[in-house]
Amino acid sequence: MTNNTKLHEIMSVNNNGSSVFASKVGAILAAAGSAVGLGNIWRFPTETGANGGAAFILIYIFFMAVIGVPIMVTEFAIGRHGGKDVMHSFFKMSDGKTGWKWMGLLPVVAGFLVLSYYAVVAGWTLYYAAVACENGFAGKTSADFAADFAAFSSNPVDPILWLAVIIILTVGVVALGVQKGIERGAKIMMPLLFIFVAILVICSLTLPGASKGLEFLFKPDFSQVTGATALSAMGQAFFSLSVGICCLCTYACYFRKDVNLIQDGVQVATIDTLVALMAGLVIFPAVYSIPGMEPNAGPSLVFITLPNVFQQVFGDVPFLAYSFSLVFYLLLVMAALTSSISMLEMAAAYFHEELRISRPVSAVLVGSVCVVLGGICSLSFGVWSDVTLFGLGAFDLFDFLVAKLLMPLGSLAMCIFVGWVVDEKKVRDELTNGGTINAKVYPVYLFLVRYVAPIGIVLIFVNELSK
Ligand code: ALA
Repeated sequence: MTNNTKLHEIMSVNNNGSSVFASKVGAILAAAGSAVGLGNIWRFPTETGANGGAAFILIYIFFMAVIGVPIMVTEFAIGRHGGKDVMHSFFKMSDGKTGWKWMGLLPVVAGFLVLSYYAVVAGWTLYYAAVACENGFAGKTSADFAADFAAFSSNPVDPILWLAVIIILTVGVVALGVQKGIERGAKIMMPLLFIFVAILVICSLTLPGASKGLEFLFKPDFSQVTGATALSAMGQAFFSLSVGICCLCTYACYFRKDVNLIQDGVQVATIDTLVALMAGLVIFPAVYSIPGMEPNAGPSLVFITLPNVFQQVFGDVPFLAYSFSLVFYLLLVMAALTSSISMLEMAAAYFHEELRISRPVSAVLVGSVCVVLGGICSLSFGVWSDVTLFGLGAFDLFDFLVAKLLMPLGSLAMCIFVGWVVDEKKVRDELTNGGTINAKVYPVYLFLVRYVAPIGIVLIFVNELSK
C-alpha cells in the first residue's frame, strides 16, 4: 500500500469538508444498497410477470447496459466532482453556470416523491414480516390472503403507522452520518440480504414448479413485445438502479478520489441485476408450483400470491413455511431500507448543506414531509381511492411521475449536461482519476452518454406519446 493510499484510508472528509465513505467496499455496498431494493424483489417480478417473462428481462438488461450504467457513472462523476449535495455538485460541474444549479432541485423534489410512495410498500413489507414472525399466515386460504391484504392496505391508519416506522428507521441511519450510519448500515444489511436471497433460491429451485419458473424467466417470447414493454423495461432499469433522481450522485459526493467510477458503476449494476434475477428465481418456481397460480398477479404478487404459495408448497412442513415466509419478508424490509436511506439522504444532504441545518434536524424534516405525502399515497388504496388526477390515485401517480417521467427525463438532462455542456476534459479527468487509471472504456462511455442514451430515451417517449 502506498503512503498516498494509506492517507486516503484514514481521511474521513473530502475537500469540501463533507464526510467520505471510509473504504472502497463501503462505497460499493452503499451504492449497491441504494440500487437493490423493492425494485428488485417486488417491482421486477411484478413487471416481468406482467410483460411476459424472459423477453422483458432481455430488454431490461439491454437498457441497463446501454443506458442505465452510463447514466449511473454520469451521476457518480457529477457527485464526486462536486463533493457536496446535488445542487452544489451541478453548480460546480457546470463551472458556476447558475442555470444548471437549479437542475439539482429536480432530484430533490423527486426524492420526496419517490420516498413517500416507496415507504408505503416498505411499510407493508415490515407489517408482513411482523405477521410472518408471529406465524400469522398459518392455516390461511387464498381467499383469506386476498381479503387480509385488501383490508390492511385500505385501512386508513395501520399502513401509515408502518410507513412511519420505516421512515423513523431511515431517519435514524441518515442522522448517524455517512460512515457510522449509511456505510455501516450497508455493510451489515447487504451481505445479509445476499445470504437470505441465496438460501431462498436454493429452497425454491427444489420445488415442483422450478422448471416452469426457469422457462418463464429464461425462454424469451418476443411476439408479446410492444413499445409499452420497452417503456416498462426502461422504467424498471431506471427504478432499479435509482438513476435519474441523483440518489447515486449524492452517495458519490462521499466517494474517495481513488474510487474507479466506471468500474464501480458496472459492479453496482451487476449486483443489482443478479439480485433481481435471484428474486425471480425465488418467486416464479414457487408460483408455478401451485396449479392455477399465474405470474402476472400485479403488485399484489408479493402480498397475496406469495404468502399463499409459501403456505401451500411447504404445507407439509410448517417449520419450512414459517421460516421461508419470515426470511422472505425480512429480506424485503432490508432491501427497502438500504434504498430508502439513499432517497432520504439526497434531500437531507441538500437541506443540511444549503440551509446549514444539522444533519439530524434535516433528516427529521425530510422524513416528516415524507410521512405526510406517504400517508396520502396510502389513503389512495382506501378512503381516498376516488381522488384521482389524470385517472391515477396518489400512489399510482407518484409511481408514474417517478419511474416513467422524472427518472428518464432527469437522466436525459444529465446526459445532455455531461455529454454536451460540461468541458469534456473535466469529465475525462473525473472518470480516469486524473489520468491515473486505464481509460480504454472511457470513449465507449462518452459515446453512450452523448448519443445512445439520449436518443434511446427520446425514441421511447415519442413512441409512447404518439399513441
Ligand atoms: N433502486 C431502488 C429499488 O430498486 C429504488 O428499490
